[in-house]
Amino acid sequence: MQASSRSAVATMLPASAYVDPVVYERERQAIFAREWAFAADTVQLSSPGSYVATTVAGYPIVVVNDAGTLRGFQNVCRHRGGPLVWDGGGSCKGFVCRYHGWSYGLDGALQTARDFGDDALPRDGLSLHDVRVEAWRGLVFVNLERGAPALVDWLGGFAGECDGYAMESFRPVRRSSHRISANWKVYAENYQEGYHIPLVHPGLNRQIDARRYEVDVREGYCVHRAPAREGAVTSGTWLWRFPGLALNLYPNGMCLETYAPVGAGETQIEYVFFFAEGTGADEIEASVASSTAILDEDRVICEVVQRNYASGLYGGGLLSPRHEAGVAYVQELVLRATAAALAP
Ligand code: FES
Ligand SMILES: [Fe+2]
Repeated sequence: MQASSRSAVATMLPASAYVDPVVYERERQAIFAREWAFAADTVQLSSPGSYVATTVAGYPIVVVNDAGTLRGFQNVCRHRGGPLVWDGGGSCKGFVCRYHGWSYGLDGALQTARDFGDDALPRDGLSLHDVRVEAWRGLVFVNLERGAPALVDWLGGFAGECDGYAMESFRPVRRSSHRISANWKVYAENYQEGYHIPLVHPGLNRQIDARRYEVDVREGYCVHRAPAREGAVTSGTWLWRFPGLALNLYPNGMCLETYAPVGAGETQIEYVFFFAEGTGADEIEASVASSTAILDEDRVICEVVQRNYASGLYGGGLLSPRHEAGVAYVQELVLRATAAALAP
């Protein structure tokens, strides 16, 4: 019988990939301008005129309910780049640019160019630039790339993993935003392994058996698993999808997490906590507090790692065959996406 051997592999990205603004710009264009990004939940966009503004890796986007149809636009005026909306969301009958007051319908068509002084202005060519919008099971995603696959095809097997959960019946009850001073890949790689749990997350380590934490690498996404310790109640399905989407599903709720870069050394993280109707306030508070504590612990370690990469002393390392297949997968997908973008 042949013994199976698994050897450590070297990390594939140099430290500079985590600190170089040129790499950040390349990844914005090669990854975040081409992948689907969570923008809102359908509850936020349920009434005509309701809108949500968001920024994904520096790209400002607004999604609106136009008489029952979800539309997405760049949140950038066609006159000289002003913002159509500058709050995170609300309700409106149309968009009025906050700079000089050009107005647009909810379908993106230019309606008036206030006091512009050109009667022959070619209105038809001055509609807002649209972005693709698709909804899946109560979650609304946007994509700047016209040729991107349909959202369900992009989700692929990730969507199938959610089949057993009543996602549409869950209600978004809490949201929180966080900024960490670390490259988005430092955060993604940290997310993709349970190896650090005993040292970084003592509370979580009491709930789950981290030695048996597994990350199954699938096509574009990963499934995380860890058995609960005796008496603990942790159960459910934990999913991650490249580049910045994580969804933890439980019988009575789900926690959606997204992250995206805002610079080479800064990452924006958003959480939405959904629960089934009738979930008690104590349970909601406990769940939010637990996620926030884990994030705070990850923030500390990610920010130190970022500083170490930026210091110039780190020259690459090794990945555990037992624990860090998910980290290798992040690096592989980043390399694949950026190589494809650089190809002539
Ligand atoms: S930039 Fe929008 S009206 Fe001038
Ligand atoms: Fe962690």
